[in-house]
Amino acid sequence: MFGHRLCLCLLLVYVRIACVAIHVTLPKISSHPTNASQILDRRLASFSIEFSYLPSFGGNASNPNLLTKELMQRLVERTGVGPDVRPGGITIDSSIFNPDASALELTESSSGGIYRTTYGPAFYESLGVFPDTSRFVITVNLGNDTIGIARDEIAAAIKYVGWDRIYALEIGNEADHYAGGSRPSTWASSDYTAQFLGWTSVLTKNLSLPHNIFQAGGFAEDPLPTAPMTTVSIIEEGVLATNAVKVFAQHTYQYSTCDPVRNAIATLPNLINHGNITAYLDEWKPQIAAAKGAGKEFVVGEYSSVSCSGKQNVTDTFGQALWLADTVLYGAFLNISRMYLHQGATLVLQSSNQANSPGFSWYDLWYPVETDRYGAARASPSFVAYLLITEAVGSSGQTQTSLLDVPQHPQLAAYAIWDKGSLARLAILNLAERNVTTSAEDAEGVAITLDLGDYVQAKGTGKVKRMAAPGLDSKDVGAITWAGQSYENGTASGVLDVEELENGKVTVQGSEGVLVFLR
Ligand SMILES: *[C@@H]1O[C@H](CO)[C@@H](O)[C@H](O)[C@H]1NC(C)=O
Ligand SMILES: *[C@@H]1O[C@H](CO)[C@@H](O)[C@H](O)[C@H]1NC(C)=O
Ligand SMILES: *[C@@H]1O[C@H](CO)[C@@H](O)[C@H](O)[C@H]1NC(C)=O
Ligand SMILES: *[C@@H]1O[C@H](CO)[C@@H](O)[C@H](O)[C@H]1NC(C)=O
Ligand SMILES: *[C@@H]1O[C@H](CO)[C@@H](O)[C@H](O)[C@H]1NC(C)=O
Ligand SMILES: *[C@@H]1O[C@H](CO)[C@@H](O)[C@H](O)[C@H]1NC(C)=O
Ligand SMILES: *[C@@H]1O[C@H](CO)[C@@H](O)[C@H](O)[C@H]1NC(C)=O
Ligand SMILES: *[C@@H]1O[C@H](CO)[C@@H](O)[C@H](O)[C@H]1NC(C)=O
Ligand SMILES: *[C@@H]1O[C@H](CO)[C@@H](O)[C@H](O)[C@H]1NC(C)=O
Repeated sequence: MFGHRLCLCLLLVYVRIACVAIHVTLPKISSHPTNASQILDRRLASFSIEFSYLPSFGGNASNPNLLTKELMQRLVERTGVGPDVRPGGITIDSSIFNPDASALELTESSSGGIYRTTYGPAFYESLGVFPDTSRFVITVNLGNDTIGIARDEIAAAIKYVGWDRIYALEIGNEADHYAGGSRPSTWASSDYTAQFLGWTSVLTKNLSLPHNIFQAGGFAEDPLPTAPMTTVSIIEEGVLATNAVKVFAQHTYQYSTCDPVRNAIATLPNLINHGNITAYLDEWKPQIAAAKGAGKEFVVGEYSSVSCSGKQNVTDTFGQALWLADTVLYGAFLNISRMYLHQGATLVLQSSNQANSPGFSWYDLWYPVETDRYGAARASPSFVAYLLITEAVGSSGQTQTSLLDVPQHPQLAAYAIWDKGSLARLAILNLAERNVTTSAEDAEGVAITLDLGDYVQAKGTGKVKRMAAPGLDSKDVGAITWAGQSYENGTASGVLDVEELENGKVTVQGSEGVLVFLR
C-alpha cells in the first residue's frame, strides 16, 4: 500500500518534470521575404455558398441576414475589403432563371433532394448583405447541356448584379462528375474543353462579354493521375486558345462522408495533422504551376475539410478552425490566390450512401438561421480561423508568407508574414491534440514555448493574439475566442486581450494558434 502511494508520487513528480512546455527554436527567419509566396490577395479567405441556399445566408433587401452582415464586416475590418463570394455548388447544375419567378423556388424529391432550383430577379437581393467591396463569381448551369439556360443566367447576372461587382463567370460545377449522369459515361476532359470553348465563344458573342472573363475548371477530383480532368489537362487541350479564361479553379475536400470507407477515416486526429494538410495541398502544385505559367490565377473555387456536408463532432468543432488556419495559410504559401470556403446544406442527391441527412452542413462557418440541427443562428466554432487568417494577411495588399520548416515538431505549423518586404508577423499553430477532457498535466506536455526575442525590435514590442478554445473537440462558441473575445452573434463579446511577449517568449497550448505582431 505504501509502495503503491510512493509509486504514484514518483509518477506525479515525473509527470510534472516531464510536462513543462516544450521549448522550440524556430529556424532563422529572414527579415526580407525568402522562399516566400506571391503577394497575398487580401481576399485570400473567400466564400462559396451553395446556390440554392444563398437566400438563407443572405436574406433579402427587406430582411437582410444580420448575422451574415456582421460576420462579413469583421473580415472587412481586418483586410479593408470584403471576401469574394461564389454562389455555386451542385445545385447550380439544375438551376433555371425565370424573370417571372420569385426569389427562389425549389423543386424537391420526397427524400429532400433538390432537382430543380428556379430563381427570379429577387434572388440577387441576397447578395446585398455582402460588403460593397465583395466581388462575385457567377456560376451558371452546364449540367443541363442547354446553352440557352446558361445564357439567360449570365444575362440576368449582368442585369441584376452588374459588371462592377462580377469578378468572373463560371460554367458548371464539378464537370468531372458529369460522366454517366448528365453526360454519357465516356465524357472526358477533351469533351469538357471542347464544350467550354464552344459555349464561351457563343456566349461572348451573344452577350458581348469581355475577353478573359471565365473561371475554367471547377473540378472535384483530387488531381492524381486517375483524375478525369484537371487544370493541366484542359490547358494541354487548348482551353486558352480563345482568350476566354481569366482564372483556373479546382475544388479541394481532403476527407469525405460520401461513403463508409472514407467516413471512417474522417476523424479529428487525421484532419488536424500538419503533415496530412500539407501533403494533400502539395498534390495541387502542378495545377498551380500550370495556371501561373499561363499568366492566370489559380484558386480553390470551393473547399472544406470533409465533403458530403462535413461530419458531426468533427467539422463542427474548434478542430475545423485549426484545420482551416493551416490549410489556408499553406495554400497561400503555394500561391493559391483565393480559397472559397463552402457554406452549404446536405443534399440527398450528393451520393447514394452518404452518412448525412438534410440540414445545414456540419462544416459551415456560421449557421445563418435557426434550425432544428443547430438551434439559434450563430457563428460556428470555426469562425475565429477567418479572423486569424485575415489579420495575418492584413490590409496593406503587400504581404507574403512562407512556411517555416520545423521538422523536429511535425505538429507545429509556423508561418512568417512579411509586410511591404519586411518581417511583420508570425502565425503559429500548435496542432498537437488537447481535448476538452485532457488533463492539465497532459495539456502541459503538448504546450510549446517559442523564444521570438531575436525578431522583436525591443523587449515589450511583440503583441500576441490568440485563437483559443477549451479543447480541440469544443463546440462551445461562447468559449472559443480570438484575442479573448467570442463572436457568437457576429460581434466581439468579452474584453479584448492583446498579450505581450514575455521576455520575448510565447507559449502556445496544444490545439491553439497565435498571431504574433513583431512590430
Ligand atoms: C510562388 O510565387 C513566387 C513568385 O511570386 C515564387 O517565387 C515562388 O517560388 C512560388 N512558390 C511556389 C511554391 O511555387
Ligand atoms: C424577404 O424575406 C422575408 C423573410 O424570409 C420574406 O417574408 C419576404 O417574402 C422576402 N421578400 C422577397 C421579395 O422575397
Ligand atoms: C433541363 O432543364 C429542363 C427544363 O427545366 C428540364 O425539364 C430537364 O429535366 C433538365 N435536364 C437535365 C438533364 O437536368
Ligand atoms: C442572343 O441569344 C438570344 C437567345 O437565343 C437571341 O434572342 C439574341 O438575338 C442573341 N443576340 C445576339 C446579339 O446574338
Ligand atoms: C494522417 O496522418 C496520420 C499521422 O501521420 C496518419 O497515420 C494517417 O494515415 C493520415 N491519414 C490520412 C487519411 O492521410
Ligand atoms: C456526436 O456527439 C453526440 C453527443 O456526444 C452524439 O449524440 C452523436 O451521436 C455524435 N454523432 C456522431 C456522428 O458521432
Ligand atoms: C521553402 O520552404 C519549405 C517549407 O518550409 C521548405 O520545405 C523548403 O525546403 C524551403 N525551400 C528553400 C529553398 O528554402
Ligand atoms: C481527442 O478526441 C478525439 C475525438 O473527439 C479522439 O479521437 C482523440 O483520441 C482524443 N485525443 C485525446 C488525446 O484524448
Ligand atoms: C451581440 O452580443 C453582444 C454582447 O453580448 C451585444 O452587446 C450585442 O448587442 C449583440 N449584437 C447583436 C447584433 O445582437
